[in-house]
Amino acid sequence: MQDSYHRTIRYLRLSVTELCNYRCQYCMTEDGVPKRAHGDMLSIEELAEIGAAAVRCGVTKIRLTGGEPLVRRGILTLIERLRALDGLRELTMTTNGSLLENVAIDLKKAGVDRLNVSLDTLSPSRFRELSRRGELADVLRGLEAANAAGFPHTKLNTVLLGGVNDGEIADFVALTKDNDYSVRFIELMPMGVCASFPKERFLSADAVLAAVPELTPLGNDGVAELYRMPGYRGTVGLIRPMSRCFCADCDRIRITADGMLKPCLHAAAELPLRGLHGVDLENAIRKGASIKPARHHLSSGSSDTARSMNEIGG
Ligand code: 5AD
Ligand code: SF4
Repeated sequence: MQDSYHRTIRYLRLSVTELCNYRCQYCMTEDGVPKRAHGDMLSIEELAEIGAAAVRCGVTKIRLTGGEPLVRRGILTLIERLRALDGLRELTMTTNGSLLENVAIDLKKAGVDRLNVSLDTLSPSRFRELSRRGELADVLRGLEAANAAGFPHTKLNTVLLGGVNDGEIADFVALTKDNDYSVRFIELMPMGVCASFPKERFLSADAVLAAVPELTPLGNDGVAELYRMPGYRGTVGLIRPMSRCFCADCDRIRITADGMLKPCLHAAAELPLRGLHGVDLENAIRKGASIKPARHHLSSGSSDTARSMNEIGG
């Protein structure tokens, strides 16, 4: 499946819910998302059908996202259905880790290959403040459970927040010493609630290299620049949506929990997929991929999407 700029689209980010048990300050308001009728959201059956059609179109990697995918009922069934698809090489999930402790083994058994766990601070009090209701200890136990269940190369997603967690960069890097983690520092993107954050919150990933100059470059890995501390087991990644546009290498499409295909995270365009089946569904997915814009315009303002991250799925 190709877009009109000759990019091959192989990666689907499939959001399974808009809901989340956290209220991270840069993602949601205190009140969370307005609860929508259950029937407005894709059923597990529909999610599996869309995933299958995307794989028939040439998608080889699916990431389950949210909101928080682990609050979605039936998620294990969906994972088993997707895992059984011929042609799917990789099935991954982005989670806040809060509910991981009790389901890590089930996720592994059902067929998730790798996990991304969001972790923005290692301070329990700052964690409570940022997530508005989370407990750091839950996530750390979730990470241990993921390791014990045999998940390799777990990625830790850390959104850089100037004046909030930039004093912790070296502590995050230290997590890669004895663990096979990839800690990925992500530049904050001005979308949804954080579009109105003060300027100092938006940090370039250069701050990571300034804080830990010993980091040695290993080249690029998808959208991340990879580094390693000499002698450490894990790696450090920099994801620079703001300071280095990686749109030219973009190979992804997104599908929201209410069944809209988004060709680009930051574009307003959406195509409805609900009610489509078989070849019609495949054609709609191909059409969505074909209209991917060349690039986003974050550097000259903010995102053009009307949705915030929890609605789109990371
Ligand atoms: N900018 C950058 N990353 C964000 N995330 C959520 N909102 C933003 C934003 N505005 C991250 C979350 C999670 C991943 C799905 O996206 O922290 O790790
Ligand atoms: Fe939930 Fe992730 Fe949004 Fe935090 S950033 S509120 S964990 S969806």
